[in-house]
Amino acid sequence: MTATAPSQYYEHHIFFCLNQRANGEACCADHGAQAAFDRCKAQVKARGLNGPGKVRVNKAGCMDRCQGGPIAVVYPEGVWYTYVDEKDIDEIVESHLQNGKVVERLLTPPHLGR
Ligand code: FES
Repeated sequence: MTATAPSQYYEHHIFFCLNQRANGEACCADHGAQAAFDRCKAQVKARGLNGPGKVRVNKAGCMDRCQGGPIAVVYPEGVWYTYVDEKDIDEIVESHLQNGKVVERLLTPPHLGR
């Protein structure tokens, strides 16, 4: 019997950390995470990219990379992004989610964790 790779339900699955901390520690929610999530969802839909076999945009809690926040991660590639504004989100949608090209300038530095 030969092993076959499981089929992917989504081509790209992007998660946005929306974590809000009450204790004053750094968190993605303090850096526009909700607005970025909303923007990404709207852009993916406007481009007709949403749905099975295509793209899914999901909320997530803390992913323990708060120092690089605000954070979003794309699977199955496991590419981590640190974004600043709507322009960055639009670039991730067009370049990575639509055309499969990683946006190098927005990659989260590998050493940044919690
Ligand atoms: S609060 Fe967003 S990664 Fe921790």
